[in-house]
Amino acid sequence: MTSTSHESAVPGCGKPSKSGLARVGFSTGFGVLAATLGSAVGLGNIWKFPYLTGANGGAGFLLVYVLATLLVGLPVMMAEISLGRVGKANPISTLQALAPKGQPWWLIGAAGMLGAFLILSFYSEVVAWVFAYVVKAMRGSILSSDPKVTEAAFGALISDPMQSLLWQWGVLVFIGGILLMGVTKGIEAITKRLMPILLLLLVLLCAVSLSLDKALDGLVFLFQPDFSKITASVVLTAMGLAFFKLSIGMGTMMTYGSYFRDDQNIPLTTVRVMAADLCISMLAGIAIFPAVFTFGFEPTAGPALVFITIPAVFSQIPMGQGLMVVFFVLASIAATGAMLSLMEVPVVILHERVGLSRPKATLLTIALLVVLGSASALSNSTLAEFKLFGLTPFDVADFVSSNIILPIGGIFIALFVGWAWGLDKFSQAMSNQGQLHNQQLIRAVFFLLRYVSPALILIVMLKGLKLF
Ligand code: PHE
Repeated sequence: MTSTSHESAVPGCGKPSKSGLARVGFSTGFGVLAATLGSAVGLGNIWKFPYLTGANGGAGFLLVYVLATLLVGLPVMMAEISLGRVGKANPISTLQALAPKGQPWWLIGAAGMLGAFLILSFYSEVVAWVFAYVVKAMRGSILSSDPKVTEAAFGALISDPMQSLLWQWGVLVFIGGILLMGVTKGIEAITKRLMPILLLLLVLLCAVSLSLDKALDGLVFLFQPDFSKITASVVLTAMGLAFFKLSIGMGTMMTYGSYFRDDQNIPLTTVRVMAADLCISMLAGIAIFPAVFTFGFEPTAGPALVFITIPAVFSQIPMGQGLMVVFFVLASIAATGAMLSLMEVPVVILHERVGLSRPKATLLTIALLVVLGSASALSNSTLAEFKLFGLTPFDVADFVSSNIILPIGGIFIALFVGWAWGLDKFSQAMSNQGQLHNQQLIRAVFFLLRYVSPALILIVMLKGLKLF
């Protein structure tokens, strides 16, 4: 949940921020976990993880992704949340306040805001597809295990410029409405209650998928690494996915950290979010790949993968149509939680730094996204021929944000904590001023942040982008 100024102050959390504006925070420990999880779990799990795993060779990619999550994702996430909770402000003000005088670390926050816009520009289009699929599922026209039918249905949606734009605008107005009415809290409360149902549905899909003829082929693809397929660009993509999945490298977790209570156990919350997020991604993978191999879909289908295979799995279940509607409604809700956390970054920066009221900051953000997002929305129709390095605007936004902006943000966040902020302050934040006895863990994470994570990210980026 992202607390807004509409809510009542929570004791102990409503301290004035460095910018002098009163902030309110998450009220309970469970609320913190749910909110952070609400940001991490989204279309990254259900859509991006399966499509990238399929396109990058399966199990090998999964292995690298898990390693990247542990070696780079976890430490950077802990760093971001710690900084946020101490700074109690938007990322720019936080870094300005915590950095030694005159050092421009606040630029990380500014870059994060650009990253948020870039991600939102294509994410809003994927959310648009999910919303559109709720309606398509109700009509029943996509319920089929024939790849030709489901591919045609998805193709018809994305190649229609009007539908692509209108659904995206619908999404932006919907999210803007939630923010303007200050009902993010309500949405998060709904999310919290409904996510277990999404989980159950995913488990059901897994069971059905695992009973299919060629289920074993799908499992081999997902779990038996073929090391020859792990190239430098595969490693970069896996690392980019780790950043994207954990919502790190661009200020979302720093912003959420600023709403954390002072007695919240940061390392524990981070590990729980990471583990739950990974489980949900795995479930999505197990639900999809057996069906891919059984019905003859291409694992390399790209962003279309989930939209064309999920209907095939539902076509095997009694009452599949109704359940598919429920699935896409729940996916829309999960996506909404993640989108709210993305929007929070520019909104809070425009509010606290530029001095716009929250409603004005929200409207400006939405307006900018209507313009920016249209390039992604039209990527499979009007702008299909408009390519940069062989990529459509949608793919550019997707690639550049995950594989360049988030990792660079991660490098600088790690360097900031490791070299500018220092072990003492990091340790105070991570141990709740010495109340938690986790010094060894803190030292290990600090070591990763100071040396290992930045070096690893840099090498993976340079190799993956073929810069050396
Ligand atoms: N983690 C979200 C997802 O998996 C996406 C996201 C990225 C949200 C960056 C916030 C910041 O869908």
